[in-house]
Amino acid sequence: MPHLPIESFTATTALVEGRELAFFGGCNYLGLAHHPAVRAAVAASLATTGLTTTASRETTGNTVGHDALERELAAFCGLGACTLLCEGYTANIALMAGLAPTHGVALVDAKAHRSLAHAAKAAGLLVLYYDHLDARQAIGLAREHAAEGVAILTDSVFAANGGVAPLPELLAGLPGGGTLVVDDCHGLCVLGRSGRGALDHFGLRDERIVVTTTLAKGLGCYGGAVMGTPERIADVRRHANIYLGTTPTPPPLVAGARAALCVLAESDALVVRLRANIDRVRGVLVGLSLPLPPPGVPILPFVLSPVERMERASQSLWNDGVLVPLIDYPGGPGLRYFRICVNAEHTPGQIDALGAALRRALSGEPAEARAATA
Ligand SMILES: Cc1ncc(COP(=O)(O)O)c(C=O)c1O
Repeated sequence: MPHLPIESFTATTALVEGRELAFFGGCNYLGLAHHPAVRAAVAASLATTGLTTTASRETTGNTVGHDALERELAAFCGLGACTLLCEGYTANIALMAGLAPTHGVALVDAKAHRSLAHAAKAAGLLVLYYDHLDARQAIGLAREHAAEGVAILTDSVFAANGGVAPLPELLAGLPGGGTLVVDDCHGLCVLGRSGRGALDHFGLRDERIVVTTTLAKGLGCYGGAVMGTPERIADVRRHANIYLGTTPTPPPLVAGARAALCVLAESDALVVRLRANIDRVRGVLVGLSLPLPPPGVPILPFVLSPVERMERASQSLWNDGVLVPLIDYPGGPGLRYFRICVNAEHTPGQIDALGAALRRALSGEPAEARAATA
């Protein structure tokens, strides 16, 4: 299943080897990668700005759209300022370069996205891991290393297992001068009012928090961002070579991300639909005795044992016209595991078809090959 060559996508289907399958993979949580307003904005920008700026933002590669998206994203997420980077990964690299002059130690959740530890090491911080989601351990380590300047680094929603970080506890135990880094790649568009993200979900506002995110998952476009106080963002721009020396997100994708934010700011309909679909899938999994992540999380991973049973189940799902990725990716509930991702655009019929296909796959009952339920 890794590197599966997909010929085309809609928000809920994938064309593979000429077959249209109901698609429960990826991270297109609200279907915004296919939203008409987003696609129209991308097409309109392409016609006026061309494909790329061909230069760093610090030379001639800045546009009105980049400046506007920074203001709009920061306002949407409730943070003071924002700087865009090429991707979510480079946003973490840039942020840690900005923190390095004042922080010596990074405490990283053991299942955090690998870019966080990579970024901290690249910036010269000492990296120590704490047990997954264990705020007590993180705080104990933070107190031990307080004099060196501590940053706690965590995903908000963990993409591989659906866990949600204990952000209020981590913040409450942060020593003076410390920083809480929240990678909200999977919280934006999922948690909080209209998908405003993890800080909104927990009601957190604190100048010691810095948020990084991607434009390539919930917002359906491409790019990354660091958000925090204006002083923190100025530090990132001053110290991060990766900000200075890269061509930014192409203007059409910036226009797409702005349109996606407009859709969310105008109505919470997509987020409401996402949550209804999450509840529907949870009902399916409970009925099959499969594990559940915290409520409100659209990522539902599970493992079957032994591994050969997973291979058979994967084939059975495929035969039933349902694509639930069977993946080897760090941070999941096993070395190999199924990762169901439900989004706002799935129909009740598709979710019911997923349930029926999962039931057959788990029972080992042979399935007839049939087209996906549209
Ligand atoms: C938690 C997390 N952080 C960072 C990234 C990197 O984001 P991007 O794909 O925009 O580089 C990802 C995406 O894979 C992610 O899941």
